Order: sequence, then structure tokens, then C-alpha cells
Amino acid sequence: MIECILVLDFGGQYCHLIARRIRELAVYSEIVQPSVMFEDLEGYGKKYNIKGIILSGGPYSVYENGSQRLSNNFMRYIVEHKIPLLGICYGHQLIAYCDGGKVKSIGKKEYGITKIFVKKHNGILKGLNKEEKVWMSHSDTVMEMPEDYEILAHTDNSPVAAFKHKEREIYGLQFHPEVIHTESGMKIFRNFIYDICKCKGNWRMEDFIDGSIKEIKKKIGDKKAIIALSGGVDSSTAAILVYRAIGKNLIAVFIDTGLMRKNEPESIKRIFTKEFDLNLRFIDAKNRFFKALKGIEDPEEKRRVIGEIFIRIFEEIAGDVNADFLIQGTIYPDRIESGIKSAFTIKTHHNVGGLPTTLGLKIIEPLRDLYKDEVRIIAKKLGLPDEIAYRHPFPGPGLAIRVIGEVTPESVEIVREADAIVKEEIKNSGLENELWQFFAVLLPIKTVGVQGDIRTYRNTIALRIVQSVDGMTANFARIPYDTLERISTRITNEIPYVNRVVYDITHKPPATIEWE
Ligand code: XMP
Repeated sequence: MIECILVLDFGGQYCHLIARRIRELAVYSEIVQPSVMFEDLEGYGKKYNIKGIILSGGPYSVYENGSQRLSNNFMRYIVEHKIPLLGICYGHQLIAYCDGGKVKSIGKKEYGITKIFVKKHNGILKGLNKEEKVWMSHSDTVMEMPEDYEILAHTDNSPVAAFKHKEREIYGLQFHPEVIHTESGMKIFRNFIYDICKCKGNWRMEDFIDGSIKEIKKKIGDKKAIIALSGGVDSSTAAILVYRAIGKNLIAVFIDTGLMRKNEPESIKRIFTKEFDLNLRFIDAKNRFFKALKGIEDPEEKRRVIGEIFIRIFEEIAGDVNADFLIQGTIYPDRIESGIKSAFTIKTHHNVGGLPTTLGLKIIEPLRDLYKDEVRIIAKKLGLPDEIAYRHPFPGPGLAIRVIGEVTPESVEIVREADAIVKEEIKNSGLENELWQFFAVLLPIKTVGVQGDIRTYRNTIALRIVQSVDGMTANFARIPYDTLERISTRITNEIPYVNRVVYDITHKPPATIEWE
């Protein structure tokens, strides 16, 4: 059975980082809701070798009504199975409170980088310095611990910044070891998972691949499954994993919307049918998309129309092939993000992971517990080429949202050619891996130019080149002028309809990355 550290999510903003750090240390970690966990700890115990449990931070006060308690059932289970427990921030206060300690509001928030003074360098704080910089974010604090606990560290405001049960492996940390600003954060996790939980550290991507192929085989048997393949890393990796499990009984559907980048549909066709022998339905739906997009200028309307046709075509094929299962390329951050509903819509995102559940198919999400960089590692291990494994983000509605105004085959062709030039020059300049995205946008204005001594009245291309960590915020990239010059010269020389190239120097916010 695979070793696992379970992280109970009490709603803290850094919760997912805890699982991330543990996986970085070669131990599998999964985030679970406390209510689910309290009900089904035995179930998890059958699925995983639970080596430790971490209680995350959270927005509550332990003495508030809305706050959660550690159920008797839960405590009995971890005592019986000798499972070490670590509370972080709210989790630290919860353990203290539930075991008879005193938790109080300190009136002001202790927020940001704080110094802790380590009194005892044992257990979780083994090998730390007397003074350590840590990341704090709390207003309640543990003031007193019951007798069977000892205090390991304090700060100027918190008398109990870290504690340990005298006999059992129960620990609490008021600060956040998962946040990068806690300088010894990884050392603390290493102490917990290796010294305290006695993990072997054998979480390998190969195990994940073998395990999920077995699981998929068992679930699908000799029935059929269908997947919408976009050529992005998530759907491609999910497709290959399932293909490894059920072979030709997986029907991969690629819909050529006419809105993809230069040579992309051909390259996807080649990879999945020549390098892998997938049962691929390649649907040329260019005309259908262009017809539906005729006359539409509004960005949201474009997105709606594209999403709708995509789903309709997929439904037609799904009906045709008689599949029982739908494979989705959902990854872990998608699930975290979809839990958070924004107050208003900035853009209606469309991607192939977002097919409706009304198809009446059973859904399988083989990558649902993985982070993006883990998916990339698996993609490589499954033999997918770099162009897919390390592909930069590309929006579901494709080039349609990079043509401002009406989308026609001609306007898409201009932006497609410009995009190819941007890609080639950025690649040649060696900047590709430092950038989040780099692309061209076709503007619906014509301006006067002079080309070959003749007056021209032609289109404008805007260049959008940004750096970002997660796409939520972004900065325009400070690209060398020489690279910008080469891009501009090539676009105006090679694309007859363009006589001007401008560079977008807006961050996100206030702008967004895509122009529509
Ligand atoms: P914005 O333009 O909102 O984009 O700053 C943030 C990131 O999301 C990508 N994007 C999309 N991805 N379907 C997708 O799968 C979409 O409809 C979509 N719209 C934008 C965008 O390229 C950027 O990386």
C-alpha cells in the first residue's frame, strides 16, 4: 500500500502548499475535508498506509460556533494506529484547545515574517537554530498548554509557537512551514515525515502511472471510454494513461476548430496516431465554427458560441461510439479553483476539461490529484514529446479571442502567421522557458504606413509577452529590443496585410493576459 500523509483542510489559504511540500519530499500526500475524514478514516486506512496526519490552518477561532472539533472517532483511530499528528496554525490551536489548553485572541494579528526562539531542538524542530525566521498569519494564539505537553518555541507575542506531546507524536506549529518565507520549512517537514512518521519516501511517478493504469483497467473493463483531446498537456497525458490501460477502447476526439496555431492540428494527429497508436477521431469542423462566428464581435458571445459548438460535436460523437465513460483531464488546482466562485465573471473560460456532465457518462479523472508540474513529469515518462509536455497555456477558444472584432478565416490566418513568427523568434532568443506566454493579437484598426515606397493602409498586430507564476497576475516581459525588432520586421515583411506592430506594456491587473 502506498504511504500517505493526509492533510485535513480547515480552509486555510496555504493548505494546498502543505501537500505540495510533502510530495516534493517523495511522500504522497492528499488533502481531505475534515468532515469526510472523520466519517471515513477507516476507508482511507484501507486505501493508503496513513503515516501521518496534518491539520491545516483555517479562518476560524476554535471557540467559535462554526469551528470544527476533532471527533472522538478520529482521535481513537489515530491513537490505536499510532498515527503522528501535526497541527499548523488553526490546527495547532485546535489540538491545544481540544486537549485542554488555553487559546485566546491576542487582539492584534501576528502577520508576516516573525522570529521564533527555539527552546527545545527535538522532534519536529530538530536541527533548527536558536532563532529562526518563520511566516506567521494569526490573531488567536495558544497561551497555555496542559501538563502532558511541552513548549518547543515561542515568539515575542506567542508563548507557544510550537509544542509537542510528552509521550505521543503530536505536534503543533503556530507558524506556516509550508510558506517559502519560513526558512527551515522543508527541514521541519523532513523531520515530520521521515523522523516522526517514519516514511520511506518512495512516492515515485512510476508508481502513480502503474497504479492508475491498474485502477483504470479495473474500472472500465472491456467497455469504451471517450476523451476530448485538445493537445494540451492535461488532456494528452490523461489520454495516454487511459490508452495504456484500455488501448483502442479509448476513443480520443480531436476537434479542429480552425482556431488552432500553425501546424498544431497536423502535429497532434501525427503524435497520437504515429507515435502512439490511438483510436483518434479527427474532426474537421472549421467551417462549422467559422459559420457560427460570422458577424460576432462580442468576446463573451464568441466564447459562448465556440463552447456550445464544441460540446454539440462532442455529444454527437459520444452518441455514435456508445461509450460508458468520459475521461477528463482535470488536475488538482482545477478542483481547488472550481470550489471558489468569483462574485462576477471576467471571462467565461472554455476548455476541453469542462464538458458538461449531462452526457450521462461515468466520469474518470485520472490526474485529479496531481499538480501541473507532476503532470508534465508523467507526460514525459509516458513518452509524450516536449512540445506537449512543456506546452505554454493556450486558451480553449483559440485564436478567435486573439482576433479583436469579427473572426473570419482570413483574420485568423493573419494572427496565426504572426503567432508563428513570435514563437519562432522567442524560441531562437532562448527566452521561451522564462515566459508564461507570448503571442500576437490582431487589432481591428488600419493605419497608414509606407512599404516599398508605397503608401499602405493596413492592419496592426499587438504583441503580448508576459511573465507569470499562475496566470492570475502577470507582468509584461522586458524583452530585449533586438528580439522585438526582429519580430516586428519579420511580421511586417512576411505578412502582407500588416504594416504596424505594437508592444503591450500592461500588467495584469489592470489588463488581462488575453485581449478578450
Ligand atoms: P486571462 O486572459 O484571463 O487569462 O488573464 C489567464 C490565463 O488563462 C488562459 N485562458 C484560457 N484558458 N480556456 C482556457 O483553457 C479559456 O477560455 C481561456 N481564456 C484565457 C490565458 O491564455 C492565460 O494563460
